[in-house]
Amino acid sequence: MLVLGIESSCDETAVALVADGRRILASEVASQAELHLPYGGVVPELASRRHLESLLPLYRLCLEKSGQPAAAIDLVAATVRPGLSGSLLVGESFGRALAAGLERPFLGIDHLEAHLSAGFPDGLPEFPALGLVVSGGHSSIFLVEDPDTFRLLGQTRDDAAGEVFDKVARVMDLPYPGGPPIERLALQARHPVRFPKPGVRNSLDFSFSGLKTAVIYYRQGHPEAAAADVAAGFQAAVAEGIAGKLDYALSRFPVKSVLTGGGVLANRFLRSRLETWAQGRGVRLYVPPIERSLDNAVMVAVRAFYRRSAPPGSGARPPGNP
Ligand code: KG4
Ligand code: ZN
Repeated sequence: MLVLGIESSCDETAVALVADGRRILASEVASQAELHLPYGGVVPELASRRHLESLLPLYRLCLEKSGQPAAAIDLVAATVRPGLSGSLLVGESFGRALAAGLERPFLGIDHLEAHLSAGFPDGLPEFPALGLVVSGGHSSIFLVEDPDTFRLLGQTRDDAAGEVFDKVARVMDLPYPGGPPIERLALQARHPVRFPKPGVRNSLDFSFSGLKTAVIYYRQGHPEAAAADVAAGFQAAVAEGIAGKLDYALSRFPVKSVLTGGGVLANRFLRSRLETWAQGRGVRLYVPPIERSLDNAVMVAVRAFYRRSAPPGSGARPPGNP
């Protein structure tokens, strides 16, 4: 079963062809980061227009690289929520038009569920699992009952984890998106600043805005402090906040596996912190490779493959079947 995945919810345009939810035949991502760089954040109108320009060439490139004819596509899937509404509409319209032209079914996919499906091509985890999504727009915890059942347990009450990286980077005069430059700067830290662990006590919800404010006040109060020490302290606090939240979730839902996804998982410090966390608790942590942690379309195609409610005749198999 060959699924074409389309992702256009924010500032990456992506198209991928995945066979049987496992074999990645082609995966193309066009980042718009440079386009939005001068504005310090994503400009929705510009994002939509760029998606419109990029989708057709990316689609053609996927066919070319995979060596598959368009007629081999069994199902077309696109992210339809959540995200920038104009950008989502461009991807969905493209997908629906393509599906109509090919006379194949179309499936609308949830972006967060897609992030948590990104690792499935490497092997399915033991279910039920906890699912952590930390991206530019979301910080959420799910109970993943099977590859097709995602129950939202908690989410951020203010800024998302990636958003707070982007905002802190901005006040530190670092470029957008803020995660990578903060991570690089933090490598030079000598005495990381200690910031309080962010979060909401005894809750599955996240909160990162207090940490953001703490970093801003610290910079004002300690202009002499090395930027690298602030960056490292901030990054460590985010990682502690996330690990602490997973601890709380695990105490409520004692599962054996934790799935992860979202652009913030590209952060190596966070990855290693979470690996240590998992080892200490006898839990298996599933972290997709970096290119599948960031926004991509493989995850959309994989999510569609496991959708039990896939339209009749689409060939989607129920989860768990080999
Ligand atoms: O999942 P994603 O690609 O797009 C959304 O769905 O939002 O995540 C983008 C977010 C941005 O906020 C970016 O700053 C953050 O992921 N990010 C990072 C790193 N690379 C990207 N955050 C921390 N460390 C990184 N290395
Ligand atoms: Zn994302």
